[in-house]
Parts: sequence; structure tokens; C-alpha cells
Amino acid sequence: MQFGLFEERPQSYPTLDALVAAMMKLEDDPLFPAGTNMVIYRGNPQARLMIVGEAPGTEEDRQGKPFVGRSGQLLDQILRSADFDPDKDVFITNSVFRLPPGDDGKPLRKPTSDEIAYYKPYLLEIVRLVDPLLMLLTGNVATESLLGQTGITRLRGQWFRVDGRWAMPIFHPAYLLRNPSREPGSPKALMWQDIKEAKRKYDELVGKPAQ
Ligand code: URA
Repeated sequence: MQFGLFEERPQSYPTLDALVAAMMKLEDDPLFPAGTNMVIYRGNPQARLMIVGEAPGTEEDRQGKPFVGRSGQLLDQILRSADFDPDKDVFITNSVFRLPPGDDGKPLRKPTSDEIAYYKPYLLEIVRLVDPLLMLLTGNVATESLLGQTGITRLRGQWFRVDGRWAMPIFHPAYLLRNPSREPGSPKALMWQDIKEAKRKYDELVGKPAQ
């Protein structure tokens, strides 16, 4: 299927590859002028579990894949700890698809609500095409994008319905890197609780693989 000049951004694409190809050509998005790369996904498009992050960081911008820096290494470790294979069982994407640059030498910043809103239809189209049963929304940006709410400390660990799918906000791995304590009630301890609950729900919905 070809998209004409005035159909660069249709509401729906026939395949994930077609959507990715169109996104790679985007030039009118709010972060295009920053000159950073489009970073769309890694993992398995057939996976039933989707992880939605915030935005690429510098390492992700360099490699063109989400969650390949320090946060990504921790994310993979968390997934493996609950018996998810990050390459096979999971599809990993973001809410914003280019690195928001730092302003005048300041550190890289969080995406703005306008940026989150701009990229949301693309995220929703990724969700429609990949068709996961469950989604984990890491941190406030993903939770704002897909649930329209923020307050991760209050929202984490609860299941919500998004377009007929189960979605649970969880802490962002970068937050855990800043809070390494494993004490009961610490962010890391709560993350362990949440990933175990995600695995329980996954097994319930997808079925446990034969041992
Ligand atoms: N943090 C995110 O939310 N996404 C990435 O891809 C990398 C770091």
C-alpha cells in the first residue's frame, strides 16, 4: 500500500513495518528540529507483553533502539528475574520517539505534555498493530500518555484497561538506578512485587509454557 503526499499520516497502517517506515520519514514532529534519531522498538512484534518507556536517551539515540543504555540493562534484568525473555516474550517501545535534547548545555530533559500528545497516535497505532494482551507503563510519561494520569507512586501496581488491554504502571528503571535500596517498601522491592504480579497475569492470560 502506497501513501500519497496528503496521506503521510493516516490513522492506520497495514503493518508494523509500514508504520515504522512512515515514522522514520517524519519531519514535522516537535523533536525533529533537534536532529535526533527516530527510535521505535526492540523485541518481538509477536509478543503478548509490551513495555512502554519514556523517550530515548543518548545511547538509544546512538543505537536506534529503545532501552539499550543503563536503564535498559536494568529493565532486562527485571524481566529475566520474572522469567520473561526480553528478546522473545516482550516488545519494547517508548511514548516519545526522539531524544528530547538538553537546552544550552543543560542535561537532557523530560518530554513535555505537548510532545507526549503529539506522539501518542503513533504509540496507539503501534499498540493496535502489535496487539499485546498486557502492557507495563514505566514511569509518569508512559502513564500520562496511555492513561491520561500521573502520580506513579500512587498508580503503580494497579491494573487498568486501555483499549481492551491490561495495563499496569510500574516505576521507571532509571528511578530504581537512583534508589538502589532493597528494603521492604523501597522502589526496588515494589518493582519486584509488580513484576511478579505482571508474570502472574501473563501466565493467566497467555498460559504457562509446557515445562
Ligand atoms: N528510558 C526510556 O524510557 N526509554 C528508553 O528507551 C531509554 C531510557
